[in-house]
Amino acid sequence: MNTARIIIFTLILGLFGQLYAYAGQPSKLVAKEGYYQFPFFDTQTPVWSYNDQIPGPLIRSKVGTTLVIDFVNGLKEPSSIHWHGLRIENAMDGVPGVTQDPVGPGENFIYRLKLDDAGTFWYHPHFNSSEQLERGLKGVFIVEEAEKQPWSRELVWLMDDWLLQKDGSIYPQFNTGRDLRHDGRWGNVPTINGLFRPEILVKPGERVRLRLINGANARVFSPQIEGLSANVIAVDGRPVTQIFALDRFVLSPGNRIDLDITIPKSAGGRTYPVNGRFTRKPFLLATLKVAQSEPVKPPDFTPPTEASFIPAQMFENVQVAKTWDLNAVRGGKYGIGWTLNMKLWPDADKADYPLGVPRKVIFKNSSSRLHPMHIHGVFFRVLERNGRKSVESFTRDTVLVGPKESVTIGFVPEHPGIWLTHCHIQSHAEAGMMTTIEVKE
Ligand code: C2O
Ligand code: CU
Repeated sequence: MNTARIIIFTLILGLFGQLYAYAGQPSKLVAKEGYYQFPFFDTQTPVWSYNDQIPGPLIRSKVGTTLVIDFVNGLKEPSSIHWHGLRIENAMDGVPGVTQDPVGPGENFIYRLKLDDAGTFWYHPHFNSSEQLERGLKGVFIVEEAEKQPWSRELVWLMDDWLLQKDGSIYPQFNTGRDLRHDGRWGNVPTINGLFRPEILVKPGERVRLRLINGANARVFSPQIEGLSANVIAVDGRPVTQIFALDRFVLSPGNRIDLDITIPKSAGGRTYPVNGRFTRKPFLLATLKVAQSEPVKPPDFTPPTEASFIPAQMFENVQVAKTWDLNAVRGGKYGIGWTLNMKLWPDADKADYPLGVPRKVIFKNSSSRLHPMHIHGVFFRVLERNGRKSVESFTRDTVLVGPKESVTIGFVPEHPGIWLTHCHIQSHAEAGMMTTIEVKE
């Protein structure tokens, strides 16, 4: 090849790079069986993973770009990929039976993702999810803002928990009666990016953006960095309306937060434990270890906020369009069903809303279990809890509805299509707690 041809070739590659694979992105995600080494066992644990990685590859792209990902199913059962939190074309949402056919063993599906929202998102299967997520299929998806922020460091922590047996294998029974009667399957080994209690090195003076993602099957995390203050700057991917201090923030399965942390200049040599505090007994998730080095100068800037995104005032004169009662019944596929208005998926009490009209919906939990309710393809604002005004200073795509609690949310259906709405405790969803919101032009 002569020089001119090489230049042209590189230019074309560059163009494709822009469109298809931003800075070395995986353009292929292959789900397959493999092995993973946990520190406690002599043998490797059989897992299912994307591209042989636990967690799956970190996807990082820029807002405004279109990413094309070829999903190859190397499992022995059907699967799909859902891009949690991303508002994309409905046909790319990855829900078998709703937006696409299941991707059979040996088959592939090309996902074309037009990235209109920056933020912290993640991806996971939406088929036999109680098992597929639990065996390791999940990964983080970051969409970067158009304008780069001058953080000293960015950390991305996918929180997870595994239910491992003494021989190192994953407990092979899913959707057990126990899981279904309780808050789903909670594991015995919490991990951050697949690592058990990792020590993460930072430098004194650094200003860190810590992205936390709860990718667990059912466990709720309430991470606290002991001895260090942190500000919440984004929830479920979107900048908050008003920045607030991290204080027992509850991350249910599906939820994400972005934290702004400045390591004190004098902290060289210190360690800060990060504990999970949702359960009565706190447990160590990770440790921030500050290097014994010259302090760096913390960059001085204010992370963006978003006051005008679906503000609460928008819903002041809006009637409640629907109340979904959350409860359990006997019967169904597993002996116990989890219902929305006494109906089990796929025989669900569905909603049907016109495009662009603000809607109010209530999730009313009549049970004494937890239900992190997630709506695909939309962000919503929590307006009331138990009938009393309780406006959150951020929007979400997943809200934890506690025992006997009712939560009123407001949203604007902005994207046409059929959007799945479900409890993000996988075994509850599979035992019926799913419905759809159809948005029509
Ligand atoms: Cu994390 Cu139906 O989604
Ligand atoms: Cu639930």
